[in-house]
Amino acid sequence: ESSRKLFIGGNWKSNLTVAQVNAHVNEVVNTLQIDPAKLEVLVAPTTLHLAQVKSILRPDIHLSAQSCSPENMGAFTGEVAASQLKDFGVNWVLIGHSERRSFFGETDAVVAKKVTLALAHGLNIVLCIGENLSEREGGQTFDVVARQLNAVKSAVTDWGKIVVAYEPVWAIGTGRNATPEQAQEVHVFIRRWFTENVNADVAASTRVIYGGSVTDVNARDLIGQPDVDGFLIGGASLKPAFKTIVDVSQ
Ligand code: G3P
Repeated sequence: ESSRKLFIGGNWKSNLTVAQVNAHVNEVVNTLQIDPAKLEVLVAPTTLHLAQVKSILRPDIHLSAQSCSPENMGAFTGEVAASQLKDFGVNWVLIGHSERRSFFGETDAVVAKKVTLALAHGLNIVLCIGENLSEREGGQTFDVVARQLNAVKSAVTDWGKIVVAYEPVWAIGTGRNATPEQAQEVHVFIRRWFTENVNADVAASTRVIYGGSVTDVNARDLIGQPDVDGFLIGGASLKPAFKTIVDVSQ
């Protein structure tokens, strides 16, 4: 039995209208039953909807941005800086999501810059890592995950502020989740990386959550794995299924 508190995040990606955000928060998110001794819950709406969600969200649920600027405040059109998120009252940010990496050119170096700034301004981070299909099929999963962790190693001043989300790209939005065994195997590898590169305490205490086609149907088996400490959920986080996932995970 691990002493790590479970962690479930909903990444809403680029979805929902104003009316849909209101309805989803009021009907699903704010009605979740959460045992605070066992579980933390986070939601990550678009940047546009952060203010709206902040004004209606239950205070025991974390509010997160989906990204932050790799630069400080200043002449960076279209960007929102980590310091601005913190100032606004948003204490969490997702960094390194595969969609940022693959569609918006976010390299390991950019991810590291974001991590540095987010931590410097007091944000907590859900750090997303994971291999794509050809990397998995080529037997490079561990290499990719290690490379992505190595890239942020020197940027991280406090691992206590970080939740690692293992999200194999081939499982994201595909309906093809990693099997519980596949997730467990990589989570164990990540924990071993912490033992070898940081220390045993951080290895034991850091939450490593799984993302990729998590549903109300597969959540129970996935959470049953000893090193799966929760989920980062896309599609199902927009539906009442999010409630079921929270229920079966505690
Ligand atoms: O960040 C969560 C994510 O990428 C997984 O998305 O839709 O497969 O649950 P989905």
